[in-house]
Amino acid sequence: MERPIYVTRSSMPPFEEYCREIAELWDSRMLSNDGVKHKQFEQQLEDFLETPHIQLFPNGHTALELAIKALGLTGEVITTPFTFASTTLAILRCGLTPVFCDIEDKHYTMNADKLKALITDKTSAIIPVHVYGNICNYKKIKEIADKHGLKVIYDAAHTFGESVDGVNVSNLGDISMFSFHATKVFHTIEGGALSFSDKALDGRLSALRKFGMNGSEDAEIIGTNAKMTEFAAAMGICNLRHFDEYILGREQAFNRYRERLSDKKGIVLCPVQDNVKHNYAYFPVVFERETFGAGRDEIAAKLAAENIFARKYFYPLTSEFTAVKKICHPNETPVARRIAENVLSLPLNAEMTPETVDTICDIILSR
Ligand SMILES: Cc1ncc(COP(=O)(O)O)c(C=O)c1O
Repeated sequence: MERPIYVTRSSMPPFEEYCREIAELWDSRMLSNDGVKHKQFEQQLEDFLETPHIQLFPNGHTALELAIKALGLTGEVITTPFTFASTTLAILRCGLTPVFCDIEDKHYTMNADKLKALITDKTSAIIPVHVYGNICNYKKIKEIADKHGLKVIYDAAHTFGESVDGVNVSNLGDISMFSFHATKVFHTIEGGALSFSDKALDGRLSALRKFGMNGSEDAEIIGTNAKMTEFAAAMGICNLRHFDEYILGREQAFNRYRERLSDKKGIVLCPVQDNVKHNYAYFPVVFERETFGAGRDEIAAKLAAENIFARKYFYPLTSEFTAVKKICHPNETPVARRIAENVLSLPLNAEMTPETVDTICDIILSR
């Protein structure tokens, strides 16, 4: 077995396939600015994600910031601190205040029962996270958002290819943001997308990612440079052809982990959401030190000693970041705190063999 083993490993299409895909760029010399590959990829994603509109971006984070701008959000945004830095920092970089809502303790998504108490007259939106590909309580979130006139942007960075109750996740909320970072289940090296159904947002987002100049000489709004290159779009086109294989490979490793680690005292796994078509993006494990006999940090160190690198993902809470603490109130989020202190994401990728999963589980169980 090859070592080191990292928590993620990028899925790659065959080298020759990518070369064929980009060959025409040497003739056209059109490398960016919504070229042929960009248009083709955008259309393919609209079909694949069953959504009326897709806009492409150089990464998920910029996509999230521009989603916030496009919806004209103001004041406070309710979100969760159990996420990657990007969710909270996007809110702050747009000059808004994140208000932290606790998570529920099965799937680690926003606890919708705690939402109402956090709404004030300054609240303009909710940004929940489908963390680890676990789908939020979207029905309850919609009910509350509709009642209070709030926008909803889903951080769907972990959720590409998933559906819930037969509906593609791209159709939840006002906007959903996907990350196509190299470590995600589906990638464009770096990249991201927004999906939405409001046609008016299409033109606005298109302008926002091109300096506010939608093909004209005038900047009608204050935009930025957030264009996906043709090379990234070409990688997306290739990876989309292989997506089902990637998911199958992940599913096999994921199921092997479940076989080995389910029903072990002191090991808590996320229950599978049975109304969800899953993408097997992550394998988070919560270690209950008292009952398991070893804590998260000891297990991480034990694996690292064997050249296997799991990740304390997500730790610390984003509300605990130095830059965040300086400017906003952390709120009490006890469930999020407990999970962050005890969770470890185990290595998972599309090419992982059952033998590798077994080796990792043997090390964990021999604590
Ligand atoms: C939950 C979450 N939100 C946002 C992002 C930002 O995406 P990107 O890295 O493509 O900017 C990531 C990923 O890295 C993420 O995991």
